[in-house]
Amino acid sequence: MNVLDKRNNVKDFDFDPIYKTSYEAWLGYRPISGGDTEETYRKFCGQIISLGNTQVIKSAMDELKRAFQAMLDVIPEINNTVDTSGAVVLGAFEEIEAAGYELGDTAVQLNDDGFRLKTVSAGDTSQILVIGKSDKGVLYGTFHLLRLMQMEAPIDKLDVIENPANQLRMINEWDNMDGSIERGYAGRSIFYEGNEFTNNLGRIKDYARLLSSIGINAIAINNVNVHAVETELITKKLLPDVKQVADIFRAYGIKTFLSINYASPIQLGNLDTADPLNEKVREWWREKTKEIYDYIPDFGGYVVKADSEHRPGPFTYNRNHADGANMLAEALQPFDGIVFWRCFVYNCLQDWRDRSTDRAKAAYDHFKPLDGEFLENVVLQIKNGPMDFQVREPVSPLFGGLEATNHVLEFQVTQEYTGQQKHLCYLIPQWKEILDFDTYARGEGSTVKKVVSGEVFGNRYSGITAVSNIGRDMNWTGHPLAQANFYGYGRLIWNPKLTAESISEEWIKLTFGTDSEVVETISKMLLDSWSIYESYTAPLGVGWMVNPSHHYGPNVDGYEYSVWGTYHFADCHGIGVDRTVASGTGYTAQYFPGNAEIYESLEKCPDELLLFFHHVPYTHQLKSGETVIQHIYNTHFEGVERVNGLIEQWESLKGKIDEKRYEDVAARLDIQKENAKDWRDIINTYFYRKSGIDDTLARTIY
Ligand code: GCU
Repeated sequence: MNVLDKRNNVKDFDFDPIYKTSYEAWLGYRPISGGDTEETYRKFCGQIISLGNTQVIKSAMDELKRAFQAMLDVIPEINNTVDTSGAVVLGAFEEIEAAGYELGDTAVQLNDDGFRLKTVSAGDTSQILVIGKSDKGVLYGTFHLLRLMQMEAPIDKLDVIENPANQLRMINEWDNMDGSIERGYAGRSIFYEGNEFTNNLGRIKDYARLLSSIGINAIAINNVNVHAVETELITKKLLPDVKQVADIFRAYGIKTFLSINYASPIQLGNLDTADPLNEKVREWWREKTKEIYDYIPDFGGYVVKADSEHRPGPFTYNRNHADGANMLAEALQPFDGIVFWRCFVYNCLQDWRDRSTDRAKAAYDHFKPLDGEFLENVVLQIKNGPMDFQVREPVSPLFGGLEATNHVLEFQVTQEYTGQQKHLCYLIPQWKEILDFDTYARGEGSTVKKVVSGEVFGNRYSGITAVSNIGRDMNWTGHPLAQANFYGYGRLIWNPKLTAESISEEWIKLTFGTDSEVVETISKMLLDSWSIYESYTAPLGVGWMVNPSHHYGPNVDGYEYSVWGTYHFADCHGIGVDRTVASGTGYTAQYFPGNAEIYESLEKCPDELLLFFHHVPYTHQLKSGETVIQHIYNTHFEGVERVNGLIEQWESLKGKIDEKRYEDVAARLDIQKENAKDWRDIINTYFYRKSGIDDTLARTIY
């Protein structure tokens, strides 16, 4: 039996303690280093006054107890009535006000999940109030307080108000019940094994803690590709297990969702159709949904991948996405449930000879004409780019394009195309660029972050979701530094104004401690890593030069003559995809004029996306002054050098990082170096042979 399967409680650590630091991730609560900080902290930590008694507040209290014990070796007294001694006071606004504290207009300043942290002093004693609009706010405030303490920040004069910018802050697990994870790079599923739920509830609880510590409030616990076994998650056979998991997440303010099989009425209900306009089908979904809510009264709703990559959907019955989604939305509506309907829809049986079909156009072509036809509790789920989580692609034109339909943005934390958690690739800088992108939907300043937070169009439901990068590996993410993507995802979607620098600094301090050399070195490594990965892989936004199916490692023509619609069109003269209106597929027209004009123009198109939008000769001069071919050679040689730089930086930390994590990162960096060399040599050689143009620096190309 796997050592993990025996674990139920994180405190026991009955697994090899060598994994302790990796497993605890950013909730390690190292001892406070002494001095004034420790002294002030001790003033508050002897007592927790809990004015609420919900499960969520209890989770907050448990976390404080755990942390105070670990950081200060204090077991706090727990009370539920106010006194004047030092304490952390937990409660929702009304509870704290009713206990006699003066809170002014706090209530109006907080949104649903918002919180306020306030230090109040009387004479010699001080208390820290953790005030939520609701109990969830109290939990988020608690984690914020602990974050400050673990970074050894002053807390004696706190007055902090935090409101999440995004209302839906979600994570999608792509776990299958056989225990595998689609695009998972950190071991098997923590939820399932052998077509059953694991009994590893302690691990799931620790995952819930990690998620809520960064503000995540929704989770879909199974893969969007719903196979035969997972289809049964919505049946009596498996709902008791789903309920057990949902109970764990609920205590951390997280709603549970299930990905469902659109053809369930046929596969589970013995109907001969799944036509969304068929009354029997509609009735089946109404009954089924009611049954789910009998088990899980606060069930979040459904995630649906329909008519995409061979998944069933309404097209079979000549119905459209709105028909399909609305049927499910109607069934969920009495329970306040929502349906996430994915926009990752395109023709995956394309003929490469057909130059008129452009996969990049597909999502917009499918969904823009239906804008306004979806019920209010349908939330369209849109990948950040028009293709599929490449290291570089433009922002999906559906952001800004959809004006009258609720939607969320979908990121991919799991590093499918970005090094599969063998390569270091810190994705926060990429996500920030996406969130800061101006769609011009309502004139200048209509950035993606304002669109997806609901600010631009005033959507009822809005926010961000992402594909998770965790698995059963003891360090959760395979690559120890890939935890930064998990952490950073939550922090960034809570507050998209945070910088990539501040997020990485926080994460490093919480995870590795506050030693400035450690903080600076790892921070630099993280912040450079996306650009390094981009430099030795597919150039200038063209994407896709990977081995088909598993998507790891270089293969320039891997998708060139394929049905998936992902091409680069390299020949002896040039490379790139002409997506202009003037001479190409016309994709640029899907953007508002401010962007369409830039992408359409060869002169104005930014270098990093040049080959996404234009087919150019190898001798085309970039804005950087280099030719395309020389850029390819230079970046690929530099990329490997820069990986060597990462290794040197990491080696400089030997002795400052615990051995296990040090060795794990070092081993992955070695793999990255070897793989980067493969990328360099294969890409350079391919384009040298195609173009016949020498490298001006005469470096080795094969
Ligand atoms: C990618 C990925 C698939 C996944 C799909 C999706 O194409 O490779 O494994 O199913 O995205 O998002 O649905």
